[in-house]
Amino acid sequence: MSPASPLLVVYYSRSGNTARVGHELAQRLGADQLAIEDLRGDGRVSVWRATLDRLLGTLPPIADPAVPLENYDLVVLGTPVWAGRPASPVRRFLHDHGARLPATAFFCTMGGKGAESTFGEMQERLGKPPRATCAIDAGMMAYGGYLDRLDAFASRLADGARAPLNHVHAWNGIHVSG
Ligand SMILES: Cc1cc2nc3c(=O)[nH]c(=O)nc-3n(C[C@H](O)[C@H](O)[C@H](O)COP(=O)(O)O)c2cc1C
Repeated sequence: MSPASPLLVVYYSRSGNTARVGHELAQRLGADQLAIEDLRGDGRVSVWRATLDRLLGTLPPIADPAVPLENYDLVVLGTPVWAGRPASPVRRFLHDHGARLPATAFFCTMGGKGAESTFGEMQERLGKPPRATCAIDAGMMAYGGYLDRLDAFASRLADGARAPLNHVHAWNGIHVSG
């Protein structure tokens, strides 16, 4: 099965921030979208449950992806930061489907800290570096400053799709590697 676009944006979101960023990024890239769905309850776990999952290392059940992950050129994976790590449903996604993923890029949303360790765990679980990363904190979300950052991230991903990038530290806090 051929995907509609060569790019896919995959994200998990408990309270809407990562979904909002993922949606806007997908629009900028003309990418397909896939929301990771936690199959417990109505899909929105409590903060208490999320914290416990994170501390216990629980890998919650998630819905099977409705798209052929391995047929994309690039999968951009987004997560909220939970105690300095990827959210548990994203850890589950990486555990179950990481080996099928093509080139990747990462983004996260967070209160204010933990992006480096979150991206570090995602890279470790995949066994290969992302093409680029983008971290968005609550301040940027509140005043809309994240849109500039998202524009820069999207253009780097689009450039990278045309020509492979070598390790470059880009402006605006966005790390690009290839
Ligand atoms: C269980 C839990 C742990 C969190 N841990 C962190 C953290 O370590 N650092 C941080 O900056 N924000 C942390 N946050 C805040 C979220 O990362 C932030 O609100 C994020 O944008 C939520 O994304 P979402 O709306 O897509 O679920 C945490 C939130 C939850 C629920």
